[in-house]
Amino acid sequence: MRLVPWQPDDLVRRLPDVVAVYGEAMGYRKELLETRRGYIAAHVRRPGFRAVATLTTDGQLAGFGYGYTSAGGQWWHDQVRSALSDAERRTWLTDCFEVVELHVRPAAQGHRIGSRQLRALLAMAAGSTCLLSTPEADEKTSRAWRLYRGFGFIDVLRDFHFPGDERAFAVLGRELPLAADRRDAAPAAERA
Ligand SMILES: CC(C)(COP(=O)(O)OP(=O)(O)OC[C@H]1O[C@@H](n2cnc3c(N)ncnc32)[C@H](O)[C@@H]1OP(=O)(O)O)[C@@H](O)C(=O)NCCC(=O)NCCS
Repeated sequence: MRLVPWQPDDLVRRLPDVVAVYGEAMGYRKELLETRRGYIAAHVRRPGFRAVATLTTDGQLAGFGYGYTSAGGQWWHDQVRSALSDAERRTWLTDCFEVVELHVRPAAQGHRIGSRQLRALLAMAAGSTCLLSTPEADEKTSRAWRLYRGFGFIDVLRDFHFPGDERAFAVLGRELPLAADRRDAAPAAERA
């Protein structure tokens, strides 16, 4: 496996694979994925966009992650902003990188690909804080939750409902930069 940084056009070129990995990882229906495809293609043009991908030796996409600078006028930012106090907004949203997507193909999960992607993405991110949202789940049995807690993400909002989605989400955040941590270290040749 090879972890690589992606430029916006790299992600656009692999958009069908990106959407496929996203759909498999999240278990989403085809119709929903069609809508997401358009959003993802637009996200790559946002300020502060950063992306990483994990490729197999034969070039298959095993996982990816991306984010960008969180700013007013973005749907996710505005939803989160409206649920925070003034003090929380100042703390979390003033200079914030949003981790928008982080996914690993199910067959490849559990092998530190996600943690390497997250570490590489946050190392490239601009900002003094980062935020993400993830479905509410058992913190012990959910790998995503174990990952985010292990990276020091704390609760910003719990049981939060985004309009049009019946699931409850948590918004988690942490300060940037990350401290060095060797737990998910890749061999030097693989590091982004
Ligand atoms: C969540 C997801 C991206 C994680 O990727 P992954 O490659 O499967 O995860 P990893 O192998 O890196 O394992 C996460 C591990 O990180 C560990 N971890 C915690 N802190 C860590 C750290 N600082 N460094 C490295 N690993 C850490 C956790 O303990 C967990 O290990 P465990 O399963 O052995 O307990 C992936 O499982 C996935 O795509 N899931 C479905 C979609 C999803 O939930 N995406 C996130 C939605 S917001």
